[in-house]
Amino acid sequence: MLSSVLLCCVLLVLGGPVLAQDVPPYTEDCRSETYPPSGPTFKGNVQLYTINLDQPPYERWQKLISEKKAPLMVLIQHIKNIAKSIFPELIDIVDRKLPFLIGTLPFPFGEEIKGVADAAGLPLGEIMLFNIFYEVFSVCTSVVAQDSSGKLLHARNLDFGLFLGWDVKNSSWMVTELLKPLVANLNFQQNNKTVFMSTSFAGYIGMLTGMKPSVLTLTMNERFSLDGGYIGILEWILGRRQGMWMGFLTRSVLENATSYDEAKTLLSKTEMLAPAYFILGGNTSGEACVITRSRTSSLNFWEMDTQKGEWFVLETNYDHWKPPLFIDNRRDSANKCMNKKGQKNISFATIYDVLSTKPVLNKLTTYTTLMSISENKFESYLRDCPHPCMPW
Ligand SMILES: *[C@@H]1O[C@H](CO)[C@@H](O)[C@H](O)[C@H]1NC(C)=O
Ligand SMILES: *[C@@H]1O[C@H](CO)[C@@H](O)[C@H](O)[C@H]1NC(C)=O
Ligand SMILES: *[C@@H]1O[C@H](CO)[C@@H](O)[C@H](O)[C@H]1NC(C)=O
Ligand SMILES: *[C@@H]1O[C@H](CO)[C@@H](O)[C@H](O)[C@H]1NC(C)=O
Ligand SMILES: *[C@@H]1O[C@H](CO)[C@@H](O)[C@H](O)[C@H]1NC(C)=O
Repeated sequence: MLSSVLLCCVLLVLGGPVLAQDVPPYTEDCRSETYPPSGPTFKGNVQLYTINLDQPPYERWQKLISEKKAPLMVLIQHIKNIAKSIFPELIDIVDRKLPFLIGTLPFPFGEEIKGVADAAGLPLGEIMLFNIFYEVFSVCTSVVAQDSSGKLLHARNLDFGLFLGWDVKNSSWMVTELLKPLVANLNFQQNNKTVFMSTSFAGYIGMLTGMKPSVLTLTMNERFSLDGGYIGILEWILGRRQGMWMGFLTRSVLENATSYDEAKTLLSKTEMLAPAYFILGGNTSGEACVITRSRTSSLNFWEMDTQKGEWFVLETNYDHWKPPLFIDNRRDSANKCMNKKGQKNISFATIYDVLSTKPVLNKLTTYTTLMSISENKFESYLRDCPHPCMPW
């Protein structure tokens, strides 16, 4: 599938006009005045749902899933078709083995997945596959910045669907498009009070993006590695269960961690199924870090060093001490635009500008989330990247 993507780029080069911004990698000058969101890169607002943690886990997701049932079915059918074409035995495992493994998932996750499957009217194994899926396919940009007054802002683009089928007719990734109707903002409540907020995909019970008011903000980016998620998940299916699902770890941290330091320890030390980058912000000036994880341990801990004049930490999908892959350099564009905006002028508006600049914004981008722990603000927007735009 990679070759068909590259081929498509080559054809675009040969057949396209000669303007620089029309030739891959479709870079552009740092954008400005894109906020409040409007125009062709803004696809719409994200709906808000309450998830009531006082309800039994089986019942929590009923309302959301009953409303999102139709797009969830379409996406799962699509994932199954891809899985079948790559690895036909997988579907047999999904239908026969996975449902049996539900009992090995820690509380409350097994019960929640059962609730989702029943509310969607889909087989348990398929909802499990859907949840596993996020452990290995997200490519993103995350940034935590500190403004001149010491307040923290945390923002991310969630890019998803790489290699999962390119739609030649409308130049888009099929999974990326199918995911957009599933994006939802979730307000997790206990005793009618917010415990944490998250932007998520209906049907997925782990968390990729979240804010716990007055405590922390957290995003997760995929980390590719040879000893990667596929191996961890296969081992888990075959019976090695020490590792925790990444999405369950982030969910537990958002739900139950009471401080930045506690979150840091949990995210650094818990054994996981897949490697990852955790981007964490606290509620005190200077509390911002990127944790680079292998499955078993923390390989690198990078905390914002304000003494040295560092005022943001930014992570895409490559170890920050190494160069990014040459065909996917979102990092330099994003860093350049952050520095161009400058600490004095950093805000939701200017961070949204950075995240709207190609190729930081690309054809995989499903949503942009902006979080401010000091103002207790949480905003999320659906994205589009009309042609000419980088496929990733
Ligand atoms: C700060 O950002 C705003 C919004 O993008 C822009 O209108 C303004 O010109 C910027 N100011 C400076 C000093 O860069
Ligand atoms: C591309 O086509 C698919 C299905 O044909 C559709 O769901 C999707 O919205 C389209 N994407 C764009 C960007 O037009
Ligand atoms: C939450 O609020 C609703 C109505 O606003 C009330 O009926 C319910 O008892 C409250 N629940 C708790 C746990 O306080
Ligand atoms: C958070 O802690 C409570 C109380 O210990 C527990 O019941 C709940 O399952 C935990 N949540 C997660 C997501 O682990
Ligand atoms: C921490 O949270 C409080 C209350 O939400 C807020 O007033 C304060 O500015 C926050 N601190 C930082 C550094 O964002």
